[in-house]
Amino acid sequence: KGSSRVAVKCVASPSVEQTAYTTKVARNENLAKLQAGYLFPEIARKRAAHMLKYPDAKVIPLGIGDTTERIPEVITTAMAERAKALSTKKGYSGYGAEQGEKQLRAAIASTFYQNLGIEEDDIFVSDGAKSDISRLQVLFGSKVSMAVQDPSYPAYVDSSVILGQTGLYQKDVERFAKIEYMRCTPENDFFPDLSNVARTDIIFFCSPNNPTGSAASREQLTQLVQFAKDNGSIIVYDSAYAMYVSEDKPRSIFEIPGAEEVALEVSSFSKYAGFTGVRLGWTVVPKQLKYSDGFPVANDFNRIVCTAFNGASNIAQAGGLACLSPEGIKAMHEVVGFYKENTKIIMDTFNSLGFNVYGGVNAPYVWVHFPGRSSWEVFGEILEKTHVVTTPGSGFGPAGEGFVRVSAFGNRENVLEACKRFKELYK
Ligand code: MLT
Repeated sequence: KGSSRVAVKCVASPSVEQTAYTTKVARNENLAKLQAGYLFPEIARKRAAHMLKYPDAKVIPLGIGDTTERIPEVITTAMAERAKALSTKKGYSGYGAEQGEKQLRAAIASTFYQNLGIEEDDIFVSDGAKSDISRLQVLFGSKVSMAVQDPSYPAYVDSSVILGQTGLYQKDVERFAKIEYMRCTPENDFFPDLSNVARTDIIFFCSPNNPTGSAASREQLTQLVQFAKDNGSIIVYDSAYAMYVSEDKPRSIFEIPGAEEVALEVSSFSKYAGFTGVRLGWTVVPKQLKYSDGFPVANDFNRIVCTAFNGASNIAQAGGLACLSPEGIKAMHEVVGFYKENTKIIMDTFNSLGFNVYGGVNAPYVWVHFPGRSSWEVFGEILEKTHVVTTPGSGFGPAGEGFVRVSAFGNRENVLEACKRFKELYK
């Protein structure tokens, strides 16, 4: 009932047809710069329209990278126990530390950053990497300049636009003014030619990459760290898919010597333990990372976290701690292994059909090339003819044009069925 004001016509003066009441608040001009809805809800809308058109079709979602496999029991048991304890006098807890529970911070540091110089108090536990990306934008403010890989996870660009770091969207080049787009294509092994990249304050870098699935090598990341050091830039490294790495490639930016002076890292339990709904992630901000005036970035990030967040759910944190027990780690590797098998099935399918296929080996995303074609057109063709939802590459940036991303997050039956339909369509 509270929303009954929406689109209600004013009938007070019948002679003048008035539209609904509006406030005197101007719309945030930065939000007005955004071109369309956020990519994934946009795709969900197209999927819903498709389902209306074909009510009997079995639609298979391989678009948004949403996990489908059950959370291992060792993890849900720990969450259930913590939840139950909340009903006891002894086990009840209210607000926790904004930065996360000490034990979980310590377990994250020792599991993912052993011998990399990262300590427990460098870890900030959160409700997920995506929320932290927006908190980081608030930290940096509207005056910084930004570089992103092109293509890249849309949250980096959209949050930058919302914060006011960019100019207007330029339709002719399909880019926002004042963002440096670092082109990543098969021609450069999906690693930007840094000699052609302008200096920016902040560099977003995701490896293994969403959407291309490529993982940067140690040499490439060493170049990136040196580039940041030469320019006095800060790298925001997104390692949400690190556990999918099977080749000898870094799983954290902090494997690169000196990175602690120029980088921070965001990561997540979502794609390892099926926590897309539970919500748990973390950000590493090393003490050595400083602003130009010598002030530690971590102190300001702590200030943002304490102002904007009351800490991750205590139940989710109990789950996170169970993830990092020896049984939990084993269980997470099994979950990751399952999705990696899906990835292989999808890659083999497109390879057998003669496509150039990228990614997949170190990431749960397969990046399929449709040279000379529009990504949205191919997305539409696949949806119309196979009822499989994918993601158009151009939704991740102009360099994604001509590609389609196929997510390996799906149950086996669906992935096999989708691949059968791909074979029928493109034989
Ligand atoms: C994706 O499909 O790119 C993922 O859902 C990204 C995310 O984790 O938000």
